[in-house]
Amino acid sequence: MEHKAQEHQAFWWQQAVIYQIFPRSFKDSTGDGIGDLAGIITKLDYLTWLGVDALWISPIYPSPMVDFGYDISDFTGIDPIFGDLATFDVLVVQAHQRNLKVIMDYVPNHTSDLHPWFLESHSSRHNPKRDWYVWTEPMPDGSPPNNWLGSWGGSAWECDDTTSQYYLHSYHKAMPDLNWRNPAVKNAMLDVVRFWLDRGVDGIRIDSAQRFMKDPQLRDNPPNPNPKVTAYKPLGDYDAQLHLHDKGHDDIHTVYRELRTLLDAYSPQAPRVALGELHIFDWQEWTRYYGAQLDELHMPLNFGLIGVPWKAKAVRQLVDAIEAALMPDAWPNYVLGNHDETRVATRLGSKQARVGMMLLLTLRGTPMLYYGDEIGMHNLAIPSQYVQDPWERNLPGMGFGRDPERSPMPWDGGPNAGFCPSAAEPWLPIPDDYLQLNVATQRKDEHSMLSLTLALLKLRRATQALTLGSYVPIEGVPEECFLYIRQLGRQKYLIALNFSSSEQQIQLSEMGSGRVLLSTHLDREEPSDLASFYLRADEGCVIEQQDTM
Ligand code: NOJ
Repeated sequence: MEHKAQEHQAFWWQQAVIYQIFPRSFKDSTGDGIGDLAGIITKLDYLTWLGVDALWISPIYPSPMVDFGYDISDFTGIDPIFGDLATFDVLVVQAHQRNLKVIMDYVPNHTSDLHPWFLESHSSRHNPKRDWYVWTEPMPDGSPPNNWLGSWGGSAWECDDTTSQYYLHSYHKAMPDLNWRNPAVKNAMLDVVRFWLDRGVDGIRIDSAQRFMKDPQLRDNPPNPNPKVTAYKPLGDYDAQLHLHDKGHDDIHTVYRELRTLLDAYSPQAPRVALGELHIFDWQEWTRYYGAQLDELHMPLNFGLIGVPWKAKAVRQLVDAIEAALMPDAWPNYVLGNHDETRVATRLGSKQARVGMMLLLTLRGTPMLYYGDEIGMHNLAIPSQYVQDPWERNLPGMGFGRDPERSPMPWDGGPNAGFCPSAAEPWLPIPDDYLQLNVATQRKDEHSMLSLTLALLKLRRATQALTLGSYVPIEGVPEECFLYIRQLGRQKYLIALNFSSSEQQIQLSEMGSGRVLLSTHLDREEPSDLASFYLRADEGCVIEQQDTM
């Protein structure tokens, strides 16, 4: 199977590595123990040095912070914790001066219950904004109108005693769902996109991108016949249903086409991009979000690498399935970590996290790199008294909490790991291992995870075949290994990844010889004979192939 090299002029987002910043935890400049925009500005040079191309910043809007910014009370402002619009503008200018793009998190599905729209909507059945949210009558016995579940436990409906109706909240009851079938809501939310595009942002990451169109008849979800089989991660009671009606109604595609038209209208000056957070693992269904004419999302995000068993065969099958599902010119992307997932180094172990980084940065498609994964940050153990995450608070002790992957970035070995001033109390504890595991220390260590990430990003940037080249998996390799070629014209690179903790011999005599350009162990650059090539335990290599044409 071969998956084509990009033949047309590539867009910036096809060649970019997107770095996700969880702003509360990146860099605190004010001493309140919470990261902020001015802090991010001080780290732009670091990001340029690292060699990423775009920042996606998790929400920075005014918010009561029930869900740490995903509960928004004003879509066109900046929460004072993070700064203000003027600082945001400086951030965009300074990022652009360094050739870094800026991607905003855009949250269409819900607002905070303290958003003025909801305060009005909630105030009476007759308020003009009543229909801006999803309100409905109780069942005759007073129970919720259907069986839909909130993602974080319990019913997705909350009864308002004053007006005796239920409102829908796909997540927390303090995050009511907007009613996108009301044209006024749609127009207001598209105006929000215009607002940020006018301020110069290069794209949006759409939160819960499948959620905001549900079954207009509010039909019950059917039971899930196989609740124990999940392509993603077990979600407890939520897995008891097939989520057919509470999200992803077909008319969501109409909205995405409209959104794409809006983005395209801005793009003649500078192409803007839409990424969508979609937990869809049926790849045919997932590709529908690119649009039949590639006229919806530029990149529906692909979380396949997060749930896949970390075995060479399973990972290869996943990549092949994604490549096979993509229409010509639909551009892939890969995610290994984010603010909702166990840290990669915790999931895979520190050694395989290096193999994972090589995979992420050499597959065909745009990689998303979560802050701190470049230094191999682990999940932070959170004592119960420090728990912040609403999911963990709703369903304690079941492993749903997301604080562990949101710990402050350790910049150096100084007080509070250089994240915030010594007198400040960081909003989440500083990782215990920060004295060894921090940016400054790893910059000095030529074998560190940071040095590996840096080298991979440098190689990727210098080598078009690694961004735009075709992807061809290699047959006849040991079961524990995944090998593939990235090729563009005469540039040909073999990526050889050993997913095991034992040495593996590769015998590919027909491939002749090559040169190891980079090993995940960062200790060899040497000629290689592919008739008999050894990958050491937990090693990945990028091998430049001699030109045989
Ligand atoms: C998905 C986001 O990634 C997550 O962090 C958030 O809690 C939910 N959407 C609700 O906005």
